Amino acid sequence: MNCDLIAPHYWWIERLGMGGALERRRRWFLPEIANARRALVLGDGDGRFLQELLRRNALARADYVDLSGRMLELARQKAGIERVDYQKADARTVEFRHGEYDLIATHFFFDCFEADELDVLIGRITASTKPRAQWVVSEFRDSSFAARLLVRFLYLFFRITTGLKTRKLVDHRPILRSYGFRLTNANQGSLVVSELWER
Ligand SMILES: C[S@@+](CC[C@H](N)C(=O)[O-])C[C@H]1O[C@@H](n2cnc3c(N)ncnc32)[C@H](O)[C@@H]1O
Repeated sequence: MNCDLIAPHYWWIERLGMGGALERRRRWFLPEIANARRALVLGDGDGRFLQELLRRNALARADYVDLSGRMLELARQKAGIERVDYQKADARTVEFRHGEYDLIATHFFFDCFEADELDVLIGRITASTKPRAQWVVSEFRDSSFAARLLVRFLYLFFRITTGLKTRKLVDHRPILRSYGFRLTNANQGSLVVSELWER
């Protein structure tokens, strides 16, 4: 997947297609993660969540990892360099710090992976967390006909614009559970869900 081409347009395409629905999902649990100090923010794209996380958590520092250099640049412009280490890297292979983070954030990121990749990735990320770490997730749901149609359309859109290979949404919940996380809160929109997990 290469998001460089769509990076500067991502926000308005999202706005046009989904209104404020995705932004609401990303921000939903910000009040509940206000005490986070060390965050790992994966596949955050243009950094809208990262910026808001830092604005609300004056003491938080974050490590940002994204495959796209242009996304990273946009994130850096928004969130600055004082409290963030930016890495342009593949989350599937990058070395995560061990036992470091009290917060993991993955918004609309799990949908980029096949089931076996996601299992390995979540396992590796888990090893980078502290006990009682929180994990905030936003993701599409394909539980209704309308949602399934939307998800199919989005996969087609990302396949054409970024070369994304994945074609099917994987249910991340059993995987997170299998690594010792439990769902502590969830808020469901009609097509997308925000979830808060704790180890
Ligand atoms: C669908 S976009 C979601 C962006 C943002 N999190 C949001 O809420 O809109 C997926 C993001 O994950 C990044 N990405 C996809 N696969 C990745 C990988 N293997 N490692 C790191 N980043 C990846 C893409 O570059 C892109 O910025």
